[in-house]
Amino acid sequence: MEKFFITTPIYYANDNPHIGHAYTTVKADILARWARSRGKKVFFSTGMDEHGAKIQKKAGEEGKDPQKFVDEISAVFQNLWKDLDISYDGFIRTSDETHKNAVRSALNNLYEKGAIYKGKYEGLYCSGCEQFLVKSQLSDGKCPDHQKEPEIVTEENYLLKMSEFGEELEKKIKSDELKITPRTRKNEILSFLEKHKLEDISISRPKEKVSWGIPLPFDENHTVYVWLDAFLNYLTVLGWDGGGGVPDFFPPDLQLMGKDILRVHATIWPALLAHLGLPLPKELYVHGHILSGGRKMSKTLGNAIPPSELLGEYGADALRYYLARKISSFEDGDMTREGFKNVYNADLANGLGNLTARIMKMSEQYFEGEKIEIKNEELPEDYRKFMDNSEVNRAADVVWDLIAELDSHIQKTEPFKVVKEDREKAKEILKYLVSGLSRVAVMLAPFLPETAGKITEAIEGNKMPESLFSRKE
Ligand code: MSP
Repeated sequence: MEKFFITTPIYYANDNPHIGHAYTTVKADILARWARSRGKKVFFSTGMDEHGAKIQKKAGEEGKDPQKFVDEISAVFQNLWKDLDISYDGFIRTSDETHKNAVRSALNNLYEKGAIYKGKYEGLYCSGCEQFLVKSQLSDGKCPDHQKEPEIVTEENYLLKMSEFGEELEKKIKSDELKITPRTRKNEILSFLEKHKLEDISISRPKEKVSWGIPLPFDENHTVYVWLDAFLNYLTVLGWDGGGGVPDFFPPDLQLMGKDILRVHATIWPALLAHLGLPLPKELYVHGHILSGGRKMSKTLGNAIPPSELLGEYGADALRYYLARKISSFEDGDMTREGFKNVYNADLANGLGNLTARIMKMSEQYFEGEKIEIKNEELPEDYRKFMDNSEVNRAADVVWDLIAELDSHIQKTEPFKVVKEDREKAKEILKYLVSGLSRVAVMLAPFLPETAGKITEAIEGNKMPESLFSRKE
């Protein structure tokens, strides 16, 4: 059986989740469900990034022990994923003992091999990103995502050798052996690699500056750099123990992420894997950001919409739908509460909801308990192609085109009039409509699992479904 390993980034446990986190996770869930429906053996991973300066600071501000703090936030994320019907197979937390042990043993191996060495490091550090930035990334001297000046850090640290990988990495990205989607992002990374030779990076912080993290096994006065700790989640989630050997499902087939973290995923992550003697991911799939008022939606910037608010009012499938269809796969897009409500009314309550009710009401009346034969046709080719290319919004467009087509078929053929004269003819029209609706349900299943289930059940029992969309104001 073909295997498929799909990942989301692990999210910082510094605050409650917002729509941006839900976006990546919902998209990954749709693709994981799609892969399962194509008969693949899927491992879908997500989790929490729980160490580092940012979290240590936030826990301190709230007067909480960091472990207790991240326990609480992780529980909120997990509850959200449950409410959003996220079908992950593995949920990793970097404060899990198994993860910490694996990281320590991997670092020991790297140190023994000479991939990690002690040296002096100087760089511009943005604690919002938990990343060293290069000057060309700044705008007006500030980190463009966090709108603050990075601090100049000069420290005695441990470094990971990176420089030797530059050329090979460039080749692998160019040839799509390490595929970066979309092409614009691939080119962005290639031009970054051309301009800036890969430099060895600092992979530790002195314990007195950052204590909330994994101590280096060979020097307990240093804490592992949070990104190194975080990258290894993609291995530890599969049960890897930090030693030799490639865990089942590895390497990832598809790694989803926002554009904010592509550069580290396209440089540090592959270098780390090369040192560990492990294969590189097949594809990094990069999406844009959800904006609010023209700026990246983020807790740090204070412009986030909490997913729980929309979930409570509209339900999981409505939020899944909005994220899957109305957010472009690659571009940034603004999201507002008003826009969400309009989409909900137009496409779900009045669109899919009404269509299903109309068709099933007629079907229930005309067939009166008879079983309707449904032709199981192949799914439309463009739908399959978009799903295989992970362009979920375009695949959803195909579904809504079919919904529109079924709507206009009702208007054109008027079965509710025909039935008065010719019941058999009306039944023929309904057969076509119910078959179409059944196809809609199959195509919707990865997107709106609950709604698709209700439609299928209604068709099987040939009766009106309970209301598909009911908003709780
Ligand atoms: N912990 C790191 C990732 C480590 S992975 C080895 C991190 N965490 S994060 O909480 O900041 O989440 C970043 C990811 O969340 C983004 O790459 C993106 O997938 C998602 N999003 C967070 N905000 C977003 C938007 N406003 N819009 C869309 N997605 C965004 O970085």
